[in-house]
Amino acid sequence: MRIDIITVLPELLTSPFAASILKRAQDKGLVEVHLHNLRDYSTNKHKNVDDYQYGGGAGMVMSIEPIASCIEKLHDERSYDEIIYMTPDGEILEQGLSNQLSLLENIIILCGHYKGVDERVRELFITREISIGSYVLSGGELAAAVLADSIIRLIPGVLNDETSALTDSFQDNLLSPPVYTRPRDFRGHKVPDVLLSGNFKLIEAYREEEAYKRTKERRPDLLGE
Ligand code: ADE
Repeated sequence: MRIDIITVLPELLTSPFAASILKRAQDKGLVEVHLHNLRDYSTNKHKNVDDYQYGGGAGMVMSIEPIASCIEKLHDERSYDEIIYMTPDGEILEQGLSNQLSLLENIIILCGHYKGVDERVRELFITREISIGSYVLSGGELAAAVLADSIIRLIPGVLNDETSALTDSFQDNLLSPPVYTRPRDFRGHKVPDVLLSGNFKLIEAYREEEAYKRTKERRPDLLGE
């Protein structure tokens, strides 16, 4: 898979992709992440990528020309399955959407800033608009990192223990059950006996029950309640 991220702040995105699972995925050749500085596509001598909004009002708007040049250059080199715009008024990111996107070959993610992009960018280029939650971030970069992380970890071979992505919270509309490691007893707080029983049938039943209980308590909406 190849992910191209268009941003005015590439430095905000270097560290999330330079460590741990996301770095290993790239080192193994399972994903390529390319950061594109939108300012490189500005024809303006000050390298501006935004302008005042028509009709007046506070806040700058990201101009269409540099975004169009960047997307068109990428499109000349390969075809893209989705061109995603990170925006608080987009479709809310859920596990199912990450699963779907992890099956794609090439995607572009455009990070918004200021008052957002000229509406014609959305009309002419964007195929999907995604929000990571009902709150406003200073820009789309952190949202793009969240989206990319949620996608990349689902690509086969990225996680060492392949089953662990399948047992994540949300994969089957259930939250994960509690987990424990040593010591067995921490200041009188003990690990549940069943987990020490060695009886895998009982352990599986315990985990299913706890996952259901936790979901019912914390996220009844996932159970359709
Ligand atoms: N840009 C600013 N806030 C955002 C959000 N919540 N999701 C996606 N992109 C954003």
